[in-house]
Amino acid sequence: MKERTLAILKPDCVQNNLIGDVLKKLLEAGFTIVGMKMVKLNKATAGEFYAVHKERPFYAELVDFMTESRIVPLALERENAVAELRKVIGATDPAEAEEGTVRKLFAESKGRNIIHASDSAENAQIELGFFFSNRELIDNM
Ligand code: RTP
Ligand code: MG
Repeated sequence: MKERTLAILKPDCVQNNLIGDVLKKLLEAGFTIVGMKMVKLNKATAGEFYAVHKERPFYAELVDFMTESRIVPLALERENAVAELRKVIGATDPAEAEEGTVRKLFAESKGRNIIHASDSAENAQIELGFFFSNRELIDNM
């Protein structure tokens, strides 16, 4: 069954002019873009989005990074979208990511790693709702 998930092209992706290259990889991997926008998070919204990591040592750094510049949230659709997107982006640390994955190809470090992807179907629904309204998501099925 078709499934949807959320990706975010992070500030390093936007700053390094890699939006086109990463979108090409996602499209070649069989994803359909069903929502796309460019936004700038502030400390409050970035902190809320990554609230699950609040107690982690890298949280402040992560919030600073995610607010450096504009980002591109994407609603992506394909069979088994959540798991397939995690495969396409690769491990959190590009040094550990498999050849050909987005992070292996484009990311510079574990912190600055180009792209976010939801890690479960449940979180995908929550995270899609963070960036896209029902009108944007439901009416385009
Ligand atoms: P994401 O949520 O962004 O898709 O990344 P992920 O699942 O692969 O990794 P996660 O453990 O959820 O961590 C979220 C983001 O926090 C930054 N991070 N920095 N310096 C560090 O040790 C460290 N660890 C994580 C990364 O930007 C990571 O993607
Ligand atoms: Mg994560």
